[in-house]
Amino acid sequence: MSTATPSASPSASASAAPADRLWGGGYEEATHPLMQRMNASVAYDQRLAVDDLIGSAAHATMLRDQGILTDQDHAALLAGMREILSEVEAGQFSWSMAREDVHMNIEATLRDRIGDPAGRLHTARSRNDQVALDERLWLRRKLATIATQLARLIEVLAQQAALHADWPMPGYTHLQRAQPVTVGHHLLAHSEALHRDAGRVLDALRRLDVCPLGSGALAGTTLPIDRAKTASLLGFSGVSRNSLDAVADRDHLVEAMAAAALGAVHLSRIGEELVLFTSAEFGFLRLSDAFTTGSSLMPQKKNPDMAELLRGKAGRVIGDLVGLLVVLKGLPLAYNKDMQEDKEPLFDALDTWSDCLVVTADMLSAAKWQKKALLESLDKGFLLATDLADELVRQGMPFRTAHEHVAALVAQLVKEGKTFRKVGPARIAAQLGVAEEGIRAALDVRKALKRRDLPGAPHPVRVGKEARAASKRAAAVVQAAQAWLQPSRAEQLLRGGSL
Ligand code: ARG
Repeated sequence: MSTATPSASPSASASAAPADRLWGGGYEEATHPLMQRMNASVAYDQRLAVDDLIGSAAHATMLRDQGILTDQDHAALLAGMREILSEVEAGQFSWSMAREDVHMNIEATLRDRIGDPAGRLHTARSRNDQVALDERLWLRRKLATIATQLARLIEVLAQQAALHADWPMPGYTHLQRAQPVTVGHHLLAHSEALHRDAGRVLDALRRLDVCPLGSGALAGTTLPIDRAKTASLLGFSGVSRNSLDAVADRDHLVEAMAAAALGAVHLSRIGEELVLFTSAEFGFLRLSDAFTTGSSLMPQKKNPDMAELLRGKAGRVIGDLVGLLVVLKGLPLAYNKDMQEDKEPLFDALDTWSDCLVVTADMLSAAKWQKKALLESLDKGFLLATDLADELVRQGMPFRTAHEHVAALVAQLVKEGKTFRKVGPARIAAQLGVAEEGIRAALDVRKALKRRDLPGAPHPVRVGKEARAASKRAAAVVQAAQAWLQPSRAEQLLRGGSL
């Protein structure tokens, strides 16, 4: 689109010829050139074009059924809209900044092509309820797609967890070695957060399932339209209950972007772990070359750029959410032009989240966990200190006393530069005054994992079961998302079907 580049100089972009303006009736003077450039949203809201056409197909069909449009006008409108749809989808539609936004570009082009009937399409409709509708339709598809991407990432984590259900690794608190877990258990921790993200997306989809069309500019219409009909053609379960709210409401955008911000924060935590775990300091994991870059200076480098970007992108998505909240804050009812500023952050937040989900899934499914480095790491950091204290508890010692005894032992070994394994169970047993047998068992990491046999704990068999459960829950998310991806009857009609 050549005319809508933001860098076009004000004088070069002459003001709209009255013929381009669909609201120019009472206007005598041309608009200020910057007014036009800043007022125009077509550079970015053209992404709503397909949904705008679907909404118009539904609206026109309802108008015809109500006897407000003739069959001939309806047919002419549909034919014109189908032509525009194919141009839009082929990237061949010619967008004009003078025509301000996606809605007026499409309507004015229809008028250029089919003449009078185009002038009847906007009967009982305003751009205010039109844009509210378009955004809901766009968001419905986008969120459903994101739900399937979340499900795929959960599935990748579940598969990797099943493969590594019994691979011991150090668990951390404060990034200090704490207690043993398994790689599978660690991966499934992330999948839990992603399940909650998917729940938020599905929730947002349920709440946005209301058709705003028919609210007009703010106060409905005096013409005998059938709102329920339009809603059902568009695949909504119902109609909005208050015309002022319907054109002022951007809650669904905020909810989707809040889910995106939290989702991106979750991915940033995975990104950070990938950065840490692939470093030589940990060496737990190797990433595929597809996600790393070399250094132009240091020949040995493989930088985890993609993992770092997962970390970094969260900042941007959070910014998008905050930006929209600030735009909406304090706006009086009903529609205000400020709200046009909702689109760029919306698109950016959801595109970014969606891309991050895809690369995280691809990166994790191609990553290779390093058994040797993981096993070696278990030796350091007295990971089994709590298990030793638990053994003393089993012998009847109060936990606090056991804690003191083991802490003293660890402090002494640190001074000597030794590990539990180096000094061996005999000396530990003697020092703590308990049988060697119990100490030997407590210091065996595989036994230590099997002893953690309660819901939510890293017993390898439980981890395997949880991996299968995560997979099933992911499949349920996909199924729920599919329901929102079915083309509406209005879309089928626009794409050449009949009703
Ligand atoms: N481009 C506008 C937006 O996104 C469409 C609604 C304009 N309505 C109006 N009354 N100017 O907000």
